[in-house]
Amino acid sequence: MVTNQAGDHLFDVLIIGSGAAGLSAALRLSGKGGQIAVLSKGPLTEGSTFYAQGGIAAVLDDKDSIESHVKDTLVAGAGLCDENIVNFTVENSKDAIQWLIDKGVNFSLADENKPAENSTDYHLTREGGHSHRRIIHAADATGKEVETTLESAVKNATDIHLFEHHIAVDLLTTNQHSLGLNGAENRCFGAYVLDLSNHLVERFRARYVILATGGASKVYMYTSNPDISSGDGIAMAWRAGCSVANLEFNQFHPTCLYHPQARTFLISEALRGEGGKLILPDGQPFMQKFDERLELAPRDIVARAIDHEIKRLGADCLYLDISHKDDDFIRSHFPTIHARCLELGIDICKQPIPIVPAAHYTCGGVRVDQQSRTDITNLYAVGEVAQTGLHGANRMASNSLLECLVFAKSATDDILGSWKKVPPPPSAPQWDDSRVTDSDEEVVVTHNWHELRRLMWNYVGIVRTTKRLQRARRRLQLLKNEIQEYYQNFRITNNLLELRNLVVVADLIIESAMRRKESRGLHYSLDYPDQQPGKPQDTVIIPGGPS
Ligand code: FAD
Ligand code: SIN
Repeated sequence: MVTNQAGDHLFDVLIIGSGAAGLSAALRLSGKGGQIAVLSKGPLTEGSTFYAQGGIAAVLDDKDSIESHVKDTLVAGAGLCDENIVNFTVENSKDAIQWLIDKGVNFSLADENKPAENSTDYHLTREGGHSHRRIIHAADATGKEVETTLESAVKNATDIHLFEHHIAVDLLTTNQHSLGLNGAENRCFGAYVLDLSNHLVERFRARYVILATGGASKVYMYTSNPDISSGDGIAMAWRAGCSVANLEFNQFHPTCLYHPQARTFLISEALRGEGGKLILPDGQPFMQKFDERLELAPRDIVARAIDHEIKRLGADCLYLDISHKDDDFIRSHFPTIHARCLELGIDICKQPIPIVPAAHYTCGGVRVDQQSRTDITNLYAVGEVAQTGLHGANRMASNSLLECLVFAKSATDDILGSWKKVPPPPSAPQWDDSRVTDSDEEVVVTHNWHELRRLMWNYVGIVRTTKRLQRARRRLQLLKNEIQEYYQNFRITNNLLELRNLVVVADLIIESAMRRKESRGLHYSLDYPDQQPGKPQDTVIIPGGPS
């Protein structure tokens, strides 16, 4: 690693993001003779991974099978999963879990008094779409256990260099810096990065770059995601020339806590897996009207059912009730949810939990192959930022952390295969901010933030129409122009960078939704309520391609 005075850092691999995808990629590369940089926008652990509740899907039970997990994933994905990728992921699920256990992750045991001797000794819970109990978990705070264990491991590795509060602004590529020879491939060799401690933009150059920036659910007004989920990686990759796919498939989690004074908080699907019932404000169950799998139907179906009932009744929320279960069972399986609800005056052992759907997961993303390679040489994308083909039109619960782990390994195996054969990165010009000034009206950014997220919620939500999408597009065009002008004239801040990225992602979501003239999985249009006959196609958008 080299860092010179002008804020120019040189590494072998630059990993942008420190969730399950970024940290597991860093650890897979550690000890192999290279120097690895990991960036995070805020504190290292702040990302969706930390908040994951339900667990990780894997074939661990003797009565379960790879075929069954594959089949369930394909069914949930509504015809759009890549079967090879699904097989690849599921076949590697057991090894991925063992790797976490070897790193020190403590999953909940099947029998608290019997320490685990092998992977069949853990408690497995159930979630929507899964026909077996196959979710390994750490009570209802699986993400926290995984993330903090990986955090300890990276902090102990001398070849992993952690840069918290560092925001990648844009990727460095040979095409954008006119460094490619005529006809030479476009190669990624780093990123411009804003260091929040001094507000300077530095260059991080590397032989390889891995985007592990998470999803984009913050594009919606109500989301289960933390603030960092602003689609930065998707927007950066798009600007650099990568194609993206299937961005119309935004997953809304059916059950987020409804509380007017509290920030959105997830009520894990595992609660339904362990017997929780969805009910109307008058206490009546309703899922039987929508799907024979009731509470454990795939998420798209449950979220639409709740949305339908809320709109039909003009209600603020519906309810999820687990109070019929034993108090000890509830407290030991769902300690986090129990405690958080209690803080807000809701005792889940005694009363139903008010719930609403909220944006939860970005199924589409930067298009990658089985080795996590994007369209740009030496640029990889892993985790929620990527579109691997695993989720199709609807991600099945707990397949996401699994994807992070499996594809971090395949990306790093690929990198290690050509390790050091790749020449060092070329030099790049310093960031030029000589023509910008400090913003005189920061409030414009805040207003545009709210407007963007509200319009996406109102017009590009769980149920869509062509007219609403057109309305969203017209409004977004105005915002796009304003934000671009603002970006060109004023010094960058975290909020401005996120807004600039969100508007790109919103535009891509709307474009993708308008291209899909059918209802499939998470994309539901009142104008096209049925599926198109024939083999379904991904919605692929290529920069500079036909629109
Ligand atoms: P994240 O964990 O979101 O990490 C993104 C990282 O990128 C962060 O470190 C962030 O700082 C960094 N970053 C972003 N932009 C930049 C930038 N411009 N510059 C520098 N750094 C940047 N999935 C499951 O499989 N099982 C579950 O039980 C489960 N429960 C969930 C519960 C909740 C509340 C939520 C929100 C999600 C849940 N999911 C679950 C989904 C799953 O947690 C995520 O898809 C997964 O954790 C994503 O991991 P990631 O590493 O791709 O991104
Ligand atoms: C949950 O616990 O309900 C979230 C699981 C997931 O998003 O995979």
